[in-house]
Amino acid sequence: MDLRLSGTTALITGAASGIGRATALALAAEGVRVALLDRDAAALDETARGCRDAVVRVVDVTYEAQVEDAVSTSVEELGGLDGVVCCAGISGPVGSSIGEISLADWNAVFAVNVTGAFLVVAQALPALRASAAASVVLLASDSAFVSSPGMAPYCASKAALVQLGRSLSVDLAGDGIRVNTVAPSIVDTAMSRGDLGAEAFVDPEFAVQTPEDVASHVLYLVSPRSRAINGATILSDFGYSARSGFPA
Ligand SMILES: NC(=O)c1ccc[n+]([C@@H]2O[C@H](COP(=O)([O-])OP(=O)(O)OC[C@H]3O[C@@H](n4cnc5c(N)ncnc54)[C@H](O)[C@@H]3O)[C@@H](O)[C@H]2O)c1
Repeated sequence: MDLRLSGTTALITGAASGIGRATALALAAEGVRVALLDRDAAALDETARGCRDAVVRVVDVTYEAQVEDAVSTSVEELGGLDGVVCCAGISGPVGSSIGEISLADWNAVFAVNVTGAFLVVAQALPALRASAAASVVLLASDSAFVSSPGMAPYCASKAALVQLGRSLSVDLAGDGIRVNTVAPSIVDTAMSRGDLGAEAFVDPEFAVQTPEDVASHVLYLVSPRSRAINGATILSDFGYSARSGFPA
């Protein structure tokens, strides 16, 4: 299927690693000119080497002034903006009960996972309004719907991101900007290996998807092929959450 993305532009946060990198490479392979944003400069350059004529900005998405500068100068260099994909994210505390979680840890998770997306989309708005087919995709998680034990800040932040996407889809529909979320279960990336340990991915006892699997969901949502899909979440969890507790 021709995704009709060739000749368009997109900005991807978290583009230095995992899902963000796979999404950037997949978009570039479809002929999209990409702006790559991340706080990891060295890894960002490696992504850029796989994308023709990429715009690169080293930025911490939790700082408003940095986001303003990175997004506005990216749009200028790209000459417009059709797609925004917010992948920058952190896990925060893993295996911690609420009594063990500091306010600083809680705030850090929300700052990246929720506020970061808010800042990036808000700054990209004027350019998206000018696009003929604007699409925003937010990387949530199945943890927005089912809970990974000991990861309350992460789970709560991803649920907030899903609802941010739904709210924005309503608020921006009049501007012709679609907003959707993707909510994958475990993806083999630096983040999940850090959380679960690399050994968990040797002959894993759980279903694992690749960053490229998730990138394909994102690309469909960025593409005008999905123009009727707005305010939706693609829950890609191998059907795990569809199963009730009914013992049959
Ligand atoms: N890996 C999984 O199992 C999984 C499952 C569901 C959802 N997700 C979500 O997908 C997204 C991408 O995760 P991933 O697994 O590819 O992780 P990753 O750790 O491989 O990549 C995350 C990227 O975000 C960047 N980043 C983090 N904080 C930042 C900040 N403040 N400013 C700028 N960049 C920042 C990191 O430098 C890194 O390059 C995240 O939002 C994550 O929550 C991951």
